[in-house]
Amino acid sequence: MDFIIKLVSCIISFCLVQFGDSIKVSKSIKLSENIIYDCVDIYKQPSLNHPLLQNHQIQMKPSFSIHKSKEQAKSKIYKNIINCPNGTVPILRNAKQYVAKSQYFAKKHFNPFTVESHGTHFAGVRLHHGPYYGILSWISVHDLNISGDQAPYAHIYVGRRFNNKDNVIQVGWMVNPSIFGDGQTWSYGFWKGANGESCYNTVCPGFIQVSKTNPLSEPIRQAPAEERNIALTIQKVFFFKILHLTYVNYKKPDILLGYWPGELFDLIDNGVDIMGVGGAVESSPSGRSPPMGNGHLPTQDDMESARVYTILYLDQPTAKTMKIVDKSYKLEKLLDSEKCYGLNRGKKMLFTFGGPGGNSCGI
Ligand SMILES: *[C@@H]1O[C@H](CO)[C@@H](O)[C@H](O)[C@H]1NC(C)=O
Ligand SMILES: *[C@@H]1O[C@H](CO)[C@@H](O)[C@H](O)[C@H]1NC(C)=O
Repeated sequence: MDFIIKLVSCIISFCLVQFGDSIKVSKSIKLSENIIYDCVDIYKQPSLNHPLLQNHQIQMKPSFSIHKSKEQAKSKIYKNIINCPNGTVPILRNAKQYVAKSQYFAKKHFNPFTVESHGTHFAGVRLHHGPYYGILSWISVHDLNISGDQAPYAHIYVGRRFNNKDNVIQVGWMVNPSIFGDGQTWSYGFWKGANGESCYNTVCPGFIQVSKTNPLSEPIRQAPAEERNIALTIQKVFFFKILHLTYVNYKKPDILLGYWPGELFDLIDNGVDIMGVGGAVESSPSGRSPPMGNGHLPTQDDMESARVYTILYLDQPTAKTMKIVDKSYKLEKLLDSEKCYGLNRGKKMLFTFGGPGGNSCGI
């Protein structure tokens, strides 16, 4: 009887139907049949189950203001669809079938240190005169029609390599039906840390969600092309040894989404060696490569392809203001398949990128 009552109350309250699991869900927010966020106590979020985070104390502060330059793009953050009660944070419910798929994609995911990964193509820029302590960039967001075994994305990343080991954090947008269950464009985060562990979003423990309104991964809603941008910054917070992830909001206050605790990494304790911004794709096992960016090669008109408006960086651990990558900054260009994708200096934008993909983009 007791069991029945528990079961019924479990169904009513949408609890994570995993008996023995003690995660209490105070509210669930359903964006669609397959997209459900559970509002869980911030101090009991699943990420804290990570063995390296057993003694981790959640850091809500500091939230520092981010230098807004006039070069920045507009980015619209539509809000209040997800709004968890105070003291709780939204965690995307992971369907079991997507967990294995995301491990498969995590292994192939673009690695800025070994850029020859099989089936991965990329077009972007890299800053490699580290150490760096933070990066901020605005990237346009697009929808793409792809097959279920492909994944185009655009990202901002930071990383450090030492003794053939790498630590990497990447954030941006991605279309990946295998891990999200639909063909929408989602915001995403990816990390690779100590012991070679790597993971997307909150599919496995690691990322500490702090915002009660903006989960790390969510479908990015429609907006006029010039406003459909994602503006994110990753910054090292020295005092707390954490890597902050913040949504940069045009004019309005920025939103701290959360952070990756320093405990997850064994190389990023004093800045990173490289940082970068650009587009990437994972091809089908058959070899067919999906479109990148908005599917169009860069042209003379910045708005016809995907674009990166600007990049700001921190090269001093305690600097308060980010520096801007201007025309004189020597950026390293990364483009591995000129046949299928392109990379251009923009007129107003820092650069434009993307292309249609196809059957013969190389391995
Ligand atoms: C939640 O917290 C905010 C900010 O601290 C406060 O203004 C608001 O009243 C709180 N809401 C509830 C329901 O307690
Ligand atoms: C994707 O395909 C559908 C159906 O053919 C079409 O309506 C839509 O405009 C396409 N979207 C993009 C971004 O190409």
